[in-house]
Amino acid sequence: MARLSDDFIREIKYRNDLGELAGAYMQLKRGGRDLVGLCPFHGEKTPSFHIRTENGLFHCFGCGAGGDVITFVMKIENLDYMEAVKFLAQRAGMSMPEDDYDDSLSKMRTRIYEANREAARFYYQKLISKEGAQGLSYLRNRGLADRTIRHFGLGFAPDERFALGDHLRSRGFTENEMIAANLVFKSRSGNSVLDRFYNRVMFPIIDVRGNVIAFGGRIMSDQKPKYLNTSDTLVFNKSNNLFSLNNAKNSKSDSLILCEGYMDVISLNQAGFTNAVATLGTALTPDQAALMKRYCKEVLICYDADEAGQKATARAIDILRKAGLIVRVITIPDGKDPDEFIRRHGDQGHAAFQNIINGSGNDMDYRMSKLKARYDMNATQDKLNYLNEAVNLLCELDNPMEREIYASKLSDETGVSVSSIKEQVDNGLKRRRRAYRKNEFSQAQRSLSARDDRVNPQHASNLRATNAEESLIAYLINHPDRLTYIHERVKPEDFTTDFSRKLYEYFSERILNNLDPLTALSRDFTSEEQSKIVEIADKYKNMPHTREALDEFIGVILDESSKPTEQDIRNSSAEEFTDLFSNLKSKKTKPNDQ
Ligand code: UTP
Ligand code: MN
Repeated sequence: MARLSDDFIREIKYRNDLGELAGAYMQLKRGGRDLVGLCPFHGEKTPSFHIRTENGLFHCFGCGAGGDVITFVMKIENLDYMEAVKFLAQRAGMSMPEDDYDDSLSKMRTRIYEANREAARFYYQKLISKEGAQGLSYLRNRGLADRTIRHFGLGFAPDERFALGDHLRSRGFTENEMIAANLVFKSRSGNSVLDRFYNRVMFPIIDVRGNVIAFGGRIMSDQKPKYLNTSDTLVFNKSNNLFSLNNAKNSKSDSLILCEGYMDVISLNQAGFTNAVATLGTALTPDQAALMKRYCKEVLICYDADEAGQKATARAIDILRKAGLIVRVITIPDGKDPDEFIRRHGDQGHAAFQNIINGSGNDMDYRMSKLKARYDMNATQDKLNYLNEAVNLLCELDNPMEREIYASKLSDETGVSVSSIKEQVDNGLKRRRRAYRKNEFSQAQRSLSARDDRVNPQHASNLRATNAEESLIAYLINHPDRLTYIHERVKPEDFTTDFSRKLYEYFSERILNNLDPLTALSRDFTSEEQSKIVEIADKYKNMPHTREALDEFIGVILDESSKPTEQDIRNSSAEEFTDLFSNLKSKKTKPNDQ
C-alpha cells in the first residue's frame, strides 16, 4: 500500500473530530477531560470506553481496542484502512490524493461485493423465469407475497453445477474472485469450479450499508442440510452480522425482534414487523448483541417454542443483558416458530402477533415462570428450592425498584413475607458484591500484569526494563524538545524489548522530521498496538516530569541493556561471563556521569 502523506492524514483528522463522529454511533458523556461511554466493540454495562479529547485517541479498558478516528471508523464500519480514510475524506468533503494505492485486499473486497450483487441478481432472475418455477411456487406456498419476495431479493439457484460460475465469468469475474466470495469452489480434481448453491431457494444477506455479503440457501425437500450458508469470507463473518438488520435499522421501533430463522424474519416483515432480525445459523454472540445495541434499546427474543429454542433463549437473555439491553421474551403459544404462528393467523397475523408482544413479560417474568414450572408449589422442599433460586435471580437485577416488585410477587406466590425475602436478597447481594470486588481487583491486576501483554511479549520477563522504556517513550512523546538530549544517551540498541525499541525509533524519526508523533498511528500500527501506545502515552500523567526522573529512566534502560541475557549466559565461557558482569557494573553509573 502506498503511504498516505502525513499532511493528508492530519487534515483528515482535523476535519473529523473523533468525539463528534463517535457520538453518532454511541452515547458519550464528559468525564474529566475524557469522553466516556459504553464500548461499541464489546458488550458491557459499565462504561470503559474513553476518548482523550486532547489527542483524539480512544481506548477501551474492557476489550483493549484503541486508536484514532481512522481506526474507530475501520472497526465500527468494518472497513480496511484505505476504505476508512476514504469514508472520512468523503464525510469532510475532501478528495483523495491522486496517486492511487495498490491495495489488493480492499480491491478483492470490492470485487466480492460486486460478485455477490451480480449473483443475487442472477438468482432473482432465475426465480422469476421458467427455470425457477419450482422455487417460486415453494415460496408462494409458504405464504410469501411477490412483493415480499422482491423486497428481500429472494432467488433460485438452478439444479446445475456451472450455472452461476458461467454467468459470473461472462460478466468478467475471475475464478479467484468467485472462490473468494465462496460462490463457487474448486472440484476435487482441480479442473473445474462448481457452484456452491444449486437447487435451492436463495436468501441474500445484506449488511447495514446495503452490500450483499452472503447467502443462505434452503433446500425445497426434507434433505439435509436444510440450509446452506456462505462460509466466512473477506466481507462476511457470520458471528457479527444479522439477517435483515438492513431493514430493521430503518424501522421506527425502539426495539428489535430477535428470531432464529430467515423465514421467521421474512414472515414478520410481511406482517408489518420490520424490526425483526435473525442470527445466521449460529447461537447469538456478544458481537451481535453489541451490534444490536447500536440500533435499539430493547430486544424481544422470539425463538422457537421447542426445547432447543428455550435453551437458546436463556443464553440470549444473558448475552443481551450483559450488553446493556432491555430484554423481553415472546413465547409462541401455538406453532413451532413465529413464521408458523403468523401463517396460522392469516390476515389476523399482525394483530395476533402484536397481542403476544403486548402480553410478553420481561426476561425476569420469563425466568421466574420457567423456574416455577420445575417445582411443585405444594411440596415444602420444592417451595424452598424455588424460593432460593428465585432469590438468586432477583440478585441479578440492577434496579432496586425491580427487585422490590419481584420480591412482592414472590411473596404472593409463596406466602413468605416480603421482608424475609428482601433480607435474603440483601444477603445475596452482599455476597455478590464481595465476589465482584475480588474479581474486579484481580482483573485489574491482570490487565496491569505483564503476562497479558500481547503487543510486547517480552514485557513479562523484563518488567524493570519495559517500565523504564515505556516511561521514556511517554516522556519523549510529550517532550519532543528533549529528543537530542535523550538521543545522546540512549541508542535503539539499548532497548531490551523489541516493541519499545520500535516505538523509540518510530517516534524519534517523526520528531526529527518535525512531524507530530501521534498523527499517523492508524497508518502504522494495529488497533491493539495503538491501544498499547495510548496506555504508554497515558503514563506521562502519573509520572514526575523532571530532568532527574528522565535521567533515572535512562539509567534503568542502560543498566538493563547491559545485563547479560539468559542466552548470553548459557553460551558464554567462564571468562566471558566475568566480562559480561564487569561490563554491567561499569555501565551502571553512566547517565549520572554526564
Ligand atoms: P430452523 O430449522 O428453525 O429453520 O433453523 P426455520 O427457519 O424454521 O426454517 P424453515 O421454516 O423450515 O424454512 C433456524 C435457522 O438456523 C439456520 C438457518 O439460519 C435457519 O434459518 N440453519 C438451520 C442453518 O444454517 N442450517 C441448517 O441446516 C438449518
Ligand atoms: Mn420455520
